[in-house]
Amino acid sequence: MDTMDNKTEIIDMKPKISDFRTEIIMGLQNNPKNTHPKFLYDEKGSNLFDQITGLEEYYPTRSETEILEKQGPGIAEYIGENSFIIELGGGNGTKGSILLRSLKAPLGYILVDISKDALELAVRNISSRYPELEVKGICADYTDTEVMENLKVPGRKSIVFLGSTIGNMEPPEAYRFVESCRKIMSDGDTLTIGVDLKKDITKLERAYNDSMGITAEFNENLIERINQVFGCKIGKSAFRHKAFYNREKGRIEMHLESTTDQEIVLDGIRIGFRKGETIHTENSYKYSLEDFESMLKEARLRNIVHWTDSGENFALFSATT
Ligand code: AVI
Repeated sequence: MDTMDNKTEIIDMKPKISDFRTEIIMGLQNNPKNTHPKFLYDEKGSNLFDQITGLEEYYPTRSETEILEKQGPGIAEYIGENSFIIELGGGNGTKGSILLRSLKAPLGYILVDISKDALELAVRNISSRYPELEVKGICADYTDTEVMENLKVPGRKSIVFLGSTIGNMEPPEAYRFVESCRKIMSDGDTLTIGVDLKKDITKLERAYNDSMGITAEFNENLIERINQVFGCKIGKSAFRHKAFYNREKGRIEMHLESTTDQEIVLDGIRIGFRKGETIHTENSYKYSLEDFESMLKEARLRNIVHWTDSGENFALFSATT
């Protein structure tokens, strides 16, 4: 346990770190080829993602922030007084800090994140703005049900999952995640989730094809990471960013498209690409208000409410057991 000062501490549960080499090779041997979106977030990828959240075309962060700011009193009313806030994957703590502005007498703030660096930053960020609040960081993988089952607090809890990260999970995985939250909730506890909504396709596709090319850099950084880790030299123009809305599946798909017929060699394993073939690097599911509410109901959550921003781009859902 690292105690940062009297009011803050970091508990390292030593989450299993994925084996980048093994998982990448396995993913590139799949047909079609794919890699897990978590691999987009090395240090450079995380910095690029932070830049994405500030882009004019990338509306989700702005829309969610608007909800937290404008609907703060309603959200605070729903969450109630005297509860421990448990924020899963809270990024740099900015949104948590906005939420805290409205909350009434929270008993403490617990952040759970797999990245110790992100966690330390978020804990520092929140505790510098709320020096009287007990802020705890738990370095763990919140998609691990065992981790969730061990999230015990001496009082009421409000689980918060912002940023529409739930959209990066496949729907069955999102359902299991919601269920694992419900399983640790008791009477009076609440769950609040940020969800990106279905909308005009042009607006969706612009958000993932920004004019400054930051999202392209974020996606193409995976090739740089592969070059670094495997010590290979895939050229900068060998793959290009491709993002589009798949209407049937209700998701933005991000791919890296091979610009030529080529072969790459990773740890002695030859992987061939045809020109135009892609590596599927991320899905970002968009929900309708009805679909998300149905999912929460199916997971046996009740008293479901939601707030949206003025453009109805994004929703914050809250529910109880
Ligand atoms: C983190 N996640 C919610 C982002 C999204 O919109 O799906 C990741 C992202 N990928 C490209 N741009 C942003």
